[in-house]
Amino acid sequence: MSNSHALSKDSIVAVIGAGAMGSGIAHVAAKAGHPVFLFDTNEAALTKGISGIKKDLEFLVSKNKMSAEDMAATLARITPVSELSALKNTNLDIEAIVENLDIKRKVFGDLEDLLAEDAILTSNTSSISITSIAAKLKRPERLLGVHFFNPAPRMALVEIVSGVASDKHLANILFDSAKAWGKVPVHAKSTPGFIVNRVARPYYAEGLRVLEEQIADIATIDTLMREGCGFPLGPFELMDLIGHDVNFAVTNSVFNAYFGDKRFTPSITQQELVSAGRLGRKSGQGFYDYRENAIKPQAIVAAACEKPKAIKLSEDTTVCQDLRERLEKAGVEVVSAKSNINAPTLFITDGRTATIRAKDENISSLAVFDLVKDMKTSERVGISFSDSTSDADKGHVIGALQAAGLQVSILDDVAGLVGMRTVCMLANEASDVVTQGIASAKDIDSAMKFGTNYPIGPMTWAEQIGIKHVARVLNNLKNHYGEERYRLSPYILRKNAAI
Ligand code: NAI
Repeated sequence: MSNSHALSKDSIVAVIGAGAMGSGIAHVAAKAGHPVFLFDTNEAALTKGISGIKKDLEFLVSKNKMSAEDMAATLARITPVSELSALKNTNLDIEAIVENLDIKRKVFGDLEDLLAEDAILTSNTSSISITSIAAKLKRPERLLGVHFFNPAPRMALVEIVSGVASDKHLANILFDSAKAWGKVPVHAKSTPGFIVNRVARPYYAEGLRVLEEQIADIATIDTLMREGCGFPLGPFELMDLIGHDVNFAVTNSVFNAYFGDKRFTPSITQQELVSAGRLGRKSGQGFYDYRENAIKPQAIVAAACEKPKAIKLSEDTTVCQDLRERLEKAGVEVVSAKSNINAPTLFITDGRTATIRAKDENISSLAVFDLVKDMKTSERVGISFSDSTSDADKGHVIGALQAAGLQVSILDDVAGLVGMRTVCMLANEASDVVTQGIASAKDIDSAMKFGTNYPIGPMTWAEQIGIKHVARVLNNLKNHYGEERYRLSPYILRKNAAI
């Protein structure tokens, strides 16, 4: 017997707001078998919403992912309505109207007066506190957040958000119902950005920061994050897709909601794009140019260099051991970083610049390489050199990595390079979410995989890199910049201390 608390299929669902999100949510609920009322005050939005759902379902039929009969039955389960009173007998109400607290409160007040006492009220808000939406209700315990991602029929994640007053049992009902609808639900406490919109901030912030420090051009950074680290899009490609107005507004809203916590500081570079009207794909220009005949720039890679006889490699993480195997297979002798043969030394970045590390460790020819998702298979890596490295030794490092099958991009000597500092900061943010009891480590990883398509959840990734190394990178970034932005999460400090 199943222990699921999912709502039965005869429970009637109301979706309030037939825009981008509301129509997608109505599609999901109807496809799962529920009778659905789709409500909007704007008739044109209602017509557009229904025709959008029909188009999406027709696409599924054309791809043999749904039968024509199922499509007809799904559509027949959706009733468009423009009078709120038509929602009287609904059991689960999902609000997806304009992102405005007062308007949402008004709608929920009207719904509470109209519906049976045991109806479940939910909001799809992405940034408003569930606690404050519920605060004015007679039964605030019956209101929760169900945060779907865009487009709702295709994105698996649903954050089930509980406010201060929310009933835990209702959170479990919504969790199990979302699961029954084919989604991946996660529990979260109502805090700014919930899980995804908070944990993802460093993906944009660190990309913007290293760009501002002129580590490399946008195409090189994006390509390293995509092909090296395995993210579906590089940070600049992603911000261009989201739209800089939206992305900048979300960053500002999270920054302000956390009372100006420096970790979420918005970027001047992005503000300038917004001011210029370069909003990304939708306006034809953002970081990239999308106008007709524009040519997308390519990552800059080092020209071919000769394979050296030997290279020194520090083996302090498994990534280094994987690189050692590749180098040896390619016929490059790999010796310990402590050996006194005359060869350049290669380290994985630990958050120090190569130049500072070279001075700290009294090594003149020193290169650091960036994090990649899997050093056994990666075809691309970014590296930087200490200012004291000779041109001949630079050539030896590049030649060795090229012989091992890697395309090499030379980055300016910026602390923590690109992938390493981004992933460590993602893990640091995720760790604070765990510390604060907002969500579990497992749920954060699911949220980032299913809400943003990250290749590995940040908590698992930190374990793979090694917590010790993650803590070292963050500490070095903190020392380097002297900024609170890079402070370590108590969770990482504790894990590191327990090793
Ligand atoms: P949208 O602008 O596409 O649709 C909103 C719809 O609500 C419009 O059709 C409008 O006519 C209707 N509406 C406005 N006031 C109403 C009222 N008082 N009663 C009934 N209908 C009303 O907006 P979108 O993008 O669908 O967003 C809706 C909600 O979902 C917002 O709270 C937003 O923050 C949230 N959200 C949006 C995501 C996105 O990527 N667009 C992702 C996740 C959540």
